[in-house]
Amino acid sequence: QPVDLIGVPMDLGADRRGVDMGPSAIRYGGLRDQLESLGIDCTDSGDIGVPQPEHCRSESDIEGEAKYLDATQTVCEQVSERVREIRATETVPLVLGGDHSIAIGTAHGVTDRPTGLLWLDAHADLNTPTTTPSGNVHGMALAAILGEGPFSEMDWAHAPNIRPENVAVVGLRSVDPGERSLLESSPIHAYTMTDIDQRGISTVVREALEAVTTTTDQLAVSLDLDLLDPSEAPGVGTPVKGGASYREAHAAMEIVAETSTDLCSLELVEVNPILDESNRTAELACELAASALGKRVL
Ligand code: ARG
Ligand code: MN
Ligand code: MN
Ligand code: MN
Repeated sequence: QPVDLIGVPMDLGADRRGVDMGPSAIRYGGLRDQLESLGIDCTDSGDIGVPQPEHCRSESDIEGEAKYLDATQTVCEQVSERVREIRATETVPLVLGGDHSIAIGTAHGVTDRPTGLLWLDAHADLNTPTTTPSGNVHGMALAAILGEGPFSEMDWAHAPNIRPENVAVVGLRSVDPGERSLLESSPIHAYTMTDIDQRGISTVVREALEAVTTTTDQLAVSLDLDLLDPSEAPGVGTPVKGGASYREAHAAMEIVAETSTDLCSLELVEVNPILDESNRTAELACELAASALGKRVL
C-alpha cells in the first residue's frame, strides 16, 4: 500500500519548544528513501500550518487546565481533513509530529469506520482538563479522542468510532492519579513496562492487537517515541527512564506489520531535535516506521 507523509510541526500541546521541529528532523533522517527502498510508493504532502504560541488567541483556553485549545482544534481539523483525503485514495497517512495532541486530528481523519487503536507510549495521555497536572493537551489526547472529561470545550475531539475497549496502551511507566482511576474503570487494554518485563514484548503486542482488532475494521498506530528508553531515544519532549529497548521497539513494529487488519494510519510523535543527539531519535523513528511497514532482515 502506498504511503503519504504529513508533517505537523505542532508544539502547542507540550510544555517546551522543540517538538515543532520533529517533522523536519524525521524527514532529514531519510524516511522517504528508506520506505522507497522497501518498494513502498511514498509521497510527501508537506506540512500542516501551525501558529506560533505567541500568536494564539487564548479566550477559549480553560485557564491553566487546557492550553491553546482553539489553535489545537484548528490544527487537528486540518490534520483530519488531510488524512481523510489521503485515505480516500487508499493510501496510508504517515503523520509526523509534533506533540501527541495531533493524534486527535489523525483519529478523526480515519474513523469513518470502527477502528482499533494501538497507543505506544510511556504515558497514558488520559488526563482531562480536570485531572491534568500540566494543562498540556498532549497529556489529554487519548482521553479527548475517547470523549472522556466533562468539558464541552473538548467535544470536538471525540471520535466515537474508536471505542475504549478497542484501544490498547503499551509501554506505560508514568501514569498520573486521574489517569489511573480512569484506567481502572475503563475497558482500555493497558500494558505497563512491568508486563513487558514479565511477558515479553511479542506476547504483549500480539495480545494488544488481538484485543483491538477482533471487532474493528482497521488499525491505527500511534507511536510516541518516549516508548523507548531515553538511552535509545533521548530526543523526546518528555523522557521517562525505564523504557523499551531498541529491539523491543522494533519487535513491536514488526508485529504491527504482521497483523492482517488493515493499517489505516501510522503516527510518529514527540521527537524533539533540541534534546536529541545528532538526530538519532529521528533516525530511529524512520527505522521503526520501516519495520511497521514491512521491513525484514530476510
Ligand atoms: N502526564 C503528563 C501530563 O499530563 C505528561 C504527558 C506527556 N504526554 C506526551 N504525549 N508526551 O502533562
Ligand atoms: Mn504521548
Ligand atoms: Mn509519552
Ligand atoms: Mn476489544
